[in-house]
Amino acid sequence: MSRFYLTTAIDYVNSRPHLGTAYEKIAADVVARYQRLCGAETHFVMGNDEHSQNVFRKARENGEDPLAYCDRMAQEFLDVWKRLDISFDDFIRTTEPRHKTGVQELVRRMTSAGDIYEGFYEGWYCVSCEAFKQEKDLIEGLCPVHRTQPDWIREKNYFFRLSKYTQPLLEHFNRQPGFTIPDVRRNEILRLLEGGLDDISVSRAGQAWGIPMPDDPSSVIYVWVDALINYATAVGFGTDAQLFEKWWPADLHIIGKDITRFHCVIWPAMLMSAGLPVPRCVFGHGWVNFKGEKMSKSLGTVIEPLEAAQKFGPDPLRLYLVKEISFGSDGDFTWERFEDRYNVDLANNLGNLVSRIATMTEKYREGRLSPAGVPGRLKDVAAAAVDDYRGAMDSFALEQGAAAAFRIVDASNEYIAETEPWAIARDPARRDELSQVLFDVAEAVRIAAVLLLPVMPGSAAEILRRMGASTPASKMTLDAAGWSESERIIAKGTAMWPRVDTSQKSRSTSVDENAPVAPTAPHAPIAPVAPSAPSAEKITIDDFMKVELRTAKVLAAEKVPNSRKLIKLSVDVGSEQRTLVAGIAEAYEPEQLVGRTVVIVFNLKPAKLMGIESNGMVLAASPEGGKATLVSFDADVPPGTRVR
Ligand code: ME8
Repeated sequence: MSRFYLTTAIDYVNSRPHLGTAYEKIAADVVARYQRLCGAETHFVMGNDEHSQNVFRKARENGEDPLAYCDRMAQEFLDVWKRLDISFDDFIRTTEPRHKTGVQELVRRMTSAGDIYEGFYEGWYCVSCEAFKQEKDLIEGLCPVHRTQPDWIREKNYFFRLSKYTQPLLEHFNRQPGFTIPDVRRNEILRLLEGGLDDISVSRAGQAWGIPMPDDPSSVIYVWVDALINYATAVGFGTDAQLFEKWWPADLHIIGKDITRFHCVIWPAMLMSAGLPVPRCVFGHGWVNFKGEKMSKSLGTVIEPLEAAQKFGPDPLRLYLVKEISFGSDGDFTWERFEDRYNVDLANNLGNLVSRIATMTEKYREGRLSPAGVPGRLKDVAAAAVDDYRGAMDSFALEQGAAAAFRIVDASNEYIAETEPWAIARDPARRDELSQVLFDVAEAVRIAAVLLLPVMPGSAAEILRRMGASTPASKMTLDAAGWSESERIIAKGTAMWPRVDTSQKSRSTSVDENAPVAPTAPHAPIAPVAPSAPSAEKITIDDFMKVELRTAKVLAAEKVPNSRKLIKLSVDVGSEQRTLVAGIAEAYEPEQLVGRTVVIVFNLKPAKLMGIESNGMVLAASPEGGKATLVSFDADVPPGTRVR
């Protein structure tokens, strides 16, 4: 049996979890559950980072003992993770004895390797980042992340010879290109390495809150060095050699893009120094923004994950975060969009489908289904979706994995509309045909539910039960996503996701009328400007049909460097993923585009813009002198749909 050891970042506990930190745990949980579904023995570790000065200060502010404060916060975090259905196998806290022992052992090994030396540090330190900052890192004297003035510190520190590991790290990056993903993060780290590394401080003087340096109790180990080692101590480093042997090196660290330098430079260098293997992969995910602003505790722009989960249970939130945010890129959360997606994907689409199957099966077949002929096209649709799903999930394209499952759901709804089981039911001679149609849709939905188990564990298990799956969700494997012909009993139930009424709110689900829009770039492949007077020359319908207009869903968007107007889009066109360049950067922020369905000229010859090959052109209305807006829809349309 293969093994998979994955971790998330461990959280600072100076405040409660927010939707941004919860996003990371949900994404990691989806990966862990997918690995289990594939049959891998999986070890999924999360935890709390407790030795930060902010935690110490917060406890003091509250008049609490720091450890008692951390105990209380641990309960709060665990409660949130439980209610979001996060299936971690172990939860490590950096104040635990097993961690302290392992941290001191690792630092001892680094010292024995001759990589730790005593020195003196004078410079900036941002307590919120818990990071030493160079003058050049600051913007107008402030920490660029927290917008606060860092402290100036002068103290005796122990230093780590990080500079010694510049070359070994570069070699490692070349040998193991998948060590840091996605590529945008890998490239950032490579640039950093190519510039050469400086030695770093690994201790703080005059503090009591932390793990003492092994041979100098007057200094504590720098909180980041302490925290990074959790990945090893959680699997027994320094305390349980057998356990460590079993799980190390980790297969995957999932962390946010702000802390890749710690995980992709300092952490592997520490491990190299201690003579330990480095992890196989570090995935740096993007931000969950709230209305375009980074959600952050210190900036006060946070959404309570439980508030979102309390509305409809954890699964709609999990689905939103996984399906609507391209894993690795930034994404946006707004209550409006969350409720819209809930209505579209769950109430109208999947939930409605599950109810219709149960109702029709009861009405026409007394709740029992078995095949009565040859399966229709849903069998092939499901097989193709399962293949796409595996490919996507194996490469951590979680949003594409979820989209593949929903392709089966969409196709099933279309199949019902096309075959009209209620019409077939009127003709007794078509009895077998009706049995087969109902069987096909129930089987397709069962397969979709298997694929959705990692994303929506509770709901997918319920759908499996209602669709009469012979294996319970807890024992399900991905092999069960193959087409089965077994007879089944379909269970009825209440509506899984009742529709929410969003009509009270005066808002549009299609065009964001407040979006700042500027005229389009003359050279960019965006919509041609709408002519004020229609051209006299008419074209035939055949001419028009030569232009293949299709819908595409924006998976990721980023500004093209050195261009004011261009945005690079990665879009799903149903059959494939494509890159497009559109001249809409002055009208839209990249985050506003992610998750939107746009219309593109699908069969346009590729063109290069600022060195990027653009495969298609995005349509927008650009009235002369007025605001340009992207063409959009007032209902959900699957990617790749032809527009005529
Ligand atoms: O950084 N969107 O802890 P933390 C997405 N203790 N992810 C976000 C986010 C957002 N808006 N805000 C934060 C720490 N995160 C350290 C980690 S690991 C050895 C030590 C992510 O509580 C952030 O990038 O500030 C990080 O991966 C995790 O949440 C915990 O952040």
